[in-house]
Amino acid sequence: MKFYLGSDHAGYKTKEALQKYLVKKGIETIDLGAHDEGRVDYPDFAEKVAKMVAKDKDSFGLLVCGTGIGMSIAANKVKGIRAANPFNTKTAALAREHNNANVICLSGRMYKDSDAKQILGAFLKAKPSKLVRHVKRIKKISKLEKK
Ligand code: RB5
Repeated sequence: MKFYLGSDHAGYKTKEALQKYLVKKGIETIDLGAHDEGRVDYPDFAEKVAKMVAKDKDSFGLLVCGTGIGMSIAANKVKGIRAANPFNTKTAALAREHNNANVICLSGRMYKDSDAKQILGAFLKAKPSKLVRHVKRIKKISKLEKK
């Protein structure tokens, strides 16, 4: 499993903590910045991570900003990206199971890093559902990108 990582200034510290968490689990990480807490614009990092995930089959993205919202809005503009902004372990698991999310966007400001780790952990454990209804809905999302 490989994760491309990105954050803005508001998500920097949490991104660093989550990178350590992933590395401890033996997961490959590629950090595309930010590399400090200097003020930057979250769409720049969402774009870098989303483009790599879209190109690198079977990879995932982890994006952290103040809320996770801006990152998810920006990442979802890239074709092939299904970015989710789960707020607890249940929604993180469902993002994989029902939505086959390939990017997880988390918050550096709305909960503790220990919560962020748990949410990411639930995302890692879950697998996309093979139920026809879910697969069909993902295909409909892909079709939207062609309209
Ligand atoms: C930065 O202040 C903040 O707006 C950003 O990190 C993010 O929360 C946007 O969605």
